[in-house]
Formats: sequence, C-alpha cells, structure tokens
Amino acid sequence: MILVTGGAGFIGANFVLDWLTQSDESVINLDKLTYAGNLQNLASLEGDSRHIFVHGDINDQQKIATLLREYQPRAIIHLAAESHVDRSIHGPEEFIQTNIVGTFRLLDTVYRYWKEQEGKTQQAFRFLHVSTDEVYGSLSKDAPAFTEVHRYQPNSPYSASKASSDQLVRAYHHTYGLPTLITNCSNNYGAFQFPEKLIPLMIVNALAGKSLPIYGDGQQIRDWLYVKDHCSAIRRVLEAGTPGETYNIGGWNEKPNIEIVHTICNLLNELRSADYHKLIKYVADRPGHDRRYAIDARKIERDLGWRPVETFETGIRKTVKWYLDHQDWVASVQSGEYRKWIETHYQEHVG
Ligand SMILES: NC(=O)c1ccc[n+]([C@@H]2O[C@H](COP(=O)([O-])OP(=O)(O)OC[C@H]3O[C@@H](n4cnc5c(N)ncnc54)[C@H](O)[C@@H]3O)[C@@H](O)[C@H]2O)c1
Repeated sequence: MILVTGGAGFIGANFVLDWLTQSDESVINLDKLTYAGNLQNLASLEGDSRHIFVHGDINDQQKIATLLREYQPRAIIHLAAESHVDRSIHGPEEFIQTNIVGTFRLLDTVYRYWKEQEGKTQQAFRFLHVSTDEVYGSLSKDAPAFTEVHRYQPNSPYSASKASSDQLVRAYHHTYGLPTLITNCSNNYGAFQFPEKLIPLMIVNALAGKSLPIYGDGQQIRDWLYVKDHCSAIRRVLEAGTPGETYNIGGWNEKPNIEIVHTICNLLNELRSADYHKLIKYVADRPGHDRRYAIDARKIERDLGWRPVETFETGIRKTVKWYLDHQDWVASVQSGEYRKWIETHYQEHVG
C-alpha cells in the first residue's frame, strides 16, 4: 500500500480517487482536516476498505511511526501543506509549522522506517514530495520557462516554505540516501478546489451574482494544469522517476489571470444564458505579487513519456460544469457544514 498525506484536500482527494480507480493497491490517507481538508470529497469511497483514513498531523511523529509499522507502505506521496498564498501573507506561521517543520518530521520518521527495511523492499521504497513552481520566483515576460535547474527565488511566505521543504527532501536524499522524488507543478484547477483559489472563486462568485475581484491589472501570467493530469504525472514519477531527481510538471498553458476570468464568464454565459462579464471588478494588487510563472515540462516528457491529456479549453469546460453540477458541495463548503462530515460519516482511526 501507499501512504498519502493531505489526501482530503483538493489535489490529494483527486489523487486518491484516481489511484483507486486505476489500482487495487490500498491508500492510507493521513490528513489533519484543516479548513482545506474535506472528507466529503471522498464520499464515494465510503465503505471501501482500500481507503484507510487517518485523522492526524504530519507533525505527529509518533502517530506516523505507528502507521508505518502497522501498514508497511512501499511509498509516501506527500501532499499535505498550507497552500494558499494570500493566507501565508496574513499569517505565515502555520506555513512554517506545516510545510517546513511538518515535512521535516515526516521525512525524519520515514527515514528511520526506511533504514530498517532490507534488500529489494528498501531499494523500491519512494518518498515523493509534491511541490510548486512558485519556488522559482517570478519571470519577466520573455524569459525562458522554469527548468529543474532554475535558481530558487521564492517570493511569498508560502513559496519560501515550500522551497525550504524541497531543500530538506533533497538533503535527505543526498545525506542519507533516502530514495526521494520531487515534483514542481504549476497552478492546478478542477473538481473539489476550495473556492478561495482563482478559478473556483470566480465560478462560485459569478453564480451568486457577486463581483469577480481581479488583483491589480490582471496581467499576472500562470501556467494551468487540469488536476487529473497532475495526478497522472505523480503516478508516472512514482512508477519510473529516478530517486534524487526533480520533475517539473506543467500544462503548456500560460495565460494571464484576466483571460482565465473572461473564459469562465464566456462558459457561464453559454451554459447559463446570462452576462457574467459585468461582474468583473479590479481590486488592489496582492503585495509582492509575482508577474509570471512558466513551466518547461520537457524533462518529464523526455525521460518518463508523460504529457497532459487536457487542453485548457477542455479542462476548464469540465471544471465549470463540475461546479454547476455540484452546488450542494459549494453550499456545504460555504456554510462550514463540510467540517462536520467526519463526525457523521467516518470512524476515526485510533493508531
Ligand atoms: N493547488 C495547486 O495549484 C498546487 C500546485 C502545485 C503544487 N501544489 C502542492 O500540492 C499540495 C496539495 O495542494 P492542494 O491545492 O491540494 O492543497 P489544499 O490546501 O487543498 O489541501 C491541503 C491538505 O493538507 C491537509 N493538511 C494541512 N496541514 C496538515 C498537517 N499539518 N498534517 C496533515 N495534513 C495537513 C489539509 O487538511 C488539506 O486536506 C501542496 O503541497 C501544494 O503546495 C499545489
């Protein structure tokens, strides 16, 4: 089996659901259920013995050690993190505690477990750390896209904490030989994304007739990847990546934020026959807002044969439709009802 951290979050839930569609290998899902963790995302797995949910913190070394001893996973997919840049600007401490200290504690506990393994089991073990393109900092308009050897220059407390965790993972490979893999991915979008991030926020606000706030001039450029493509890339890196290596993952979809919002409005206009563009409202820019991220994803394509399946046009259409079809999910997130899910639907693991 494999152990996933943060599997009740946006990418984590998509990863667990896709994993169990493709394979019968069980998943232990360790998640603290912060505001961003939502077990309702995994409701379709209720009663499925291949999914073992454990309510816990990656800072809790004793709990992790017990889980490792009990389940003997062959790999760790580390997704748990504080992930929202705006929150990191208003309250960076939680980002340091989870993304840096938590990753260190997880790594160290996993290292001790791995050291006790022998032969092929030890060799085949993997620690896959999921990170972001934001660690590389901001690019000028015409600069080449980030490759895996691009200098780290994180600009927000979020990206600095992720950069720091990447370096710890790298060091555990270099110093102790732990078979690690690092992926640095661009902006994800798709089902189950908490409506504080750009794409779901715009869809949810538009449907509620609220304004669509655009930071600054809206010309900040990001590369966008449909979340299921990210999940397939993680599976591919786990399967065939070389320990100690980093793989950049991207969708070859560089777009300014304002274009993303216009695309969402066009789709909603078409599907809902109303004019959503009039809701767009420019607001003061985020402090220290990076202008451009772009991913050069040629290494993962060349070495591991991975490429995204969705174009931005197909992925964003699926996403907008998902939010239209799952307004009960949105309502439950907005009311806070989703936080009660664990009490009513899951028996907490006492490991
Ligand atoms: N969303 C993106 O566009 C994107 C892009 C590249 C990389 N990433 C990385 O992918 C990972 C997942 O991102 P996401 O968007 O799904 O995030 P998310 O905020 O939706 O989910 C994070 C999950 O981690 C859990 N968590 C937080 N602190 C924890 C702790 N101390 N112990 C255990 N669980 C904890 C939360 O409860 C939540 O379920 C993060 O590491 C993020 O940096 C995200």
